[in-house]
Amino acid sequence: MTIALTTDNVTLTYPDGAGRLTALDRVNLHVTGGTIAAVTGPSGSGKSSLLAVVSTLIRPDSGRVLLETDSGTVDLAGLGRREAAAVRRSRIGIVFQQANLVSALTAVEQLEVMSHLGRRPRLPTANRRETRSKARELLDAVGLTDHHAKYPAQLSGGERQRVNIARALMNDPALLVIDEPTSALDTERGAAIIDLILSVVRDRGSATLLVTHDSAHLHRMDTVYRMVDGALELQPRVVV
Ligand SMILES: Nc1ncnc2c1ncn2[C@@H]1O[C@H](COP(=O)(O)OP(=O)(O)OP(=O)(O)O)[C@@H](O)[C@H]1O
Ligand SMILES: [Mg+2]
Repeated sequence: MTIALTTDNVTLTYPDGAGRLTALDRVNLHVTGGTIAAVTGPSGSGKSSLLAVVSTLIRPDSGRVLLETDSGTVDLAGLGRREAAAVRRSRIGIVFQQANLVSALTAVEQLEVMSHLGRRPRLPTANRRETRSKARELLDAVGLTDHHAKYPAQLSGGERQRVNIARALMNDPALLVIDEPTSALDTERGAAIIDLILSVVRDRGSATLLVTHDSAHLHRMDTVYRMVDGALELQPRVVV
């Protein structure tokens, strides 16, 4: 299976008073399936904006965001709203910094909801059973076997982050984008989340973009980019 994400001179500006603020300045990056590209850099440098663009949540001013899969290559920057929503649902897993879980749903329901989104009529019973067993399998894979029926308020921060990651994997995403997965966690739990992400990415083959402030985990990433004032640079590998 061929999977790759390539951005080609992506530029994004936001309105800023009378002018425009350049959040992304001709960004080029490349990440292949089964690997993680980390994006690091100072606060306000454009990291989350980059994730929003590659996950189709924001359309850039110019440039291309090419997602290559076995079914061909799509320019995500060229999709209309409806097409973008469909691609997000079927191809892209998004993990925001805050877990954004629904307080009224149990862990397993948070995952199941992903398969029911935007579907009318409702899924037939057989598919709903399949969805449930997939949700259970993913929760087991992230180490939450004993927590399937818990609500977010009954989970720790690290456990919520794991539900968040499992949920992003429900549609077997070609592209996985993850914003600051360890920032709310202590060093040990942060390292465990990175272990988990690495193992699911290797296993499932998603091309993954991971934003982190935490330099402790960078040596474990396949490539490291640094963002400064909207410009992205590939960091040379540090050989220890
Ligand atoms: N919706 C928006 N409208 C206008 N300006 C924005 C918007 N979102 C972000 N910005 C600005 O764009 C720049 C990049 O923001 P972004 O959130 O991408 O940074 P970041 O690198 O993720 O920062 P952090 O590490 O603090 O999360 C910042 O100057 C920010 O103030
Ligand atoms: Mg950010």
